Amino acid sequence: MNDMTANRSLWLVLGLSIPILLSIRRSLNRFHRSSKLPENYERVLILGASSGIGRAIAHIYASRGARVCVVARREAELETVAEECRALSTTAGHGEYQAGGKRVIHVVADFSEVEDMVRVRTALETEWRGLDTLVVAAGVSALKPLMEVAGVEKKGKLYTPPQADETALQKTVEVTAAAMKGNYIGPLVAAVSLIPLLSTTSPSPSILLLSTLASVIPAPTRTLYGSTKSASFMLYQSLSIEHPDIHFAFVLPATVEGNFRASAVDGGEVREADPNTKGLKREVVARRCVKALDEGDGAVFLPWLMSWSQLALWAFPDFVKWRAMKKYNFSTDDAKHDVPLF
Ligand SMILES: NC(=O)c1ccc[n+]([C@@H]2O[C@H](COP(=O)([O-])OP(=O)(O)OC[C@H]3O[C@@H](n4cnc5c(N)ncnc54)[C@H](OP(=O)(O)O)[C@@H]3O)[C@@H](O)[C@H]2O)c1
Repeated sequence: MNDMTANRSLWLVLGLSIPILLSIRRSLNRFHRSSKLPENYERVLILGASSGIGRAIAHIYASRGARVCVVARREAELETVAEECRALSTTAGHGEYQAGGKRVIHVVADFSEVEDMVRVRTALETEWRGLDTLVVAAGVSALKPLMEVAGVEKKGKLYTPPQADETALQKTVEVTAAAMKGNYIGPLVAAVSLIPLLSTTSPSPSILLLSTLASVIPAPTRTLYGSTKSASFMLYQSLSIEHPDIHFAFVLPATVEGNFRASAVDGGEVREADPNTKGLKREVVARRCVKALDEGDGAVFLPWLMSWSQLALWAFPDFVKWRAMKKYNFSTDDAKHDVPLF
């Protein structure tokens, strides 16, 4: 073997061993929540559990014997989910009661209403005397470009009507307030009402915020949705610094199958091709959420490749914007501003 070949082999071995050593270190440092909190003692509150990903998360916790409290506004759907959880828990061999409290409870509530969240907290204190895990899965969608919300259409350089009048501006503010209520005020009321209870009653307090890829990567038509989800993502990241005794996990999925778009606060049309079948499976997202809580993960992007999306936006902004326009079937006949305006 000559010197050049020996050098190359050395670099190759070094290059291969760094990721292996890093992954060994990661697994040695792995946080195992179950050593502090047995799965069948865990008390889990899921906000937004009457359908979709929240419902799938409730099923997972119920199957492994955790105590589960499901919350949402639609009473009939919520009662069905509570029944499903009881059945899954019983099938897995767990009793109706755990440590003197009911294993599955449900509270019909709006997580952005103060009185409702006080009722939820009282139910947890009465039934379980505390809380270990808060899952914030509730949220609302918004699907229109912002000027469309105001009823102003753009063709070339012309706007019709030429300006958003007072009524149109007022309507835009109301739609925005509804998006803020569902995606920011709700997470805020949940955090403020539950952080002291989590922190003082759990051996391993944890919070998971179900955010979205749209909260970190801008997309046309998701103007209000992405910006309001981004606000709650930043809120919880800041809270994680203010409350280092609580583990905060964040899951940021791309499009997920289901009827989330039906919750649109702006009544916007669905623009993606076949959104219900092409998205991530909600059970896959739910499993990853539970894993993030069990193993102490921080921010988790789904699919995994999207972990590089912010770097891609920085390195190739035009490509990422083009992909976003294509995904949401959005086009504009405006010329791009290649030349500075002044
Ligand atoms: N679907 C996607 O493509 C996608 C992608 C990325 C991230 N996400 C995020 O995933 C989360 C769940 O979405 P999903 O697909 O499971 O949609 P979903 O089926 O519409 O579920 C939303 C849940 O939130 C509840 N909810 C909404 N507003 C509420 C409120 N004010 N108070 C209490 N509960 C409320 C709904 O129940 P009620 O109507 O009965 O109250 C429902 O149970 C959302 O936060 C969303 O931003 C979704």
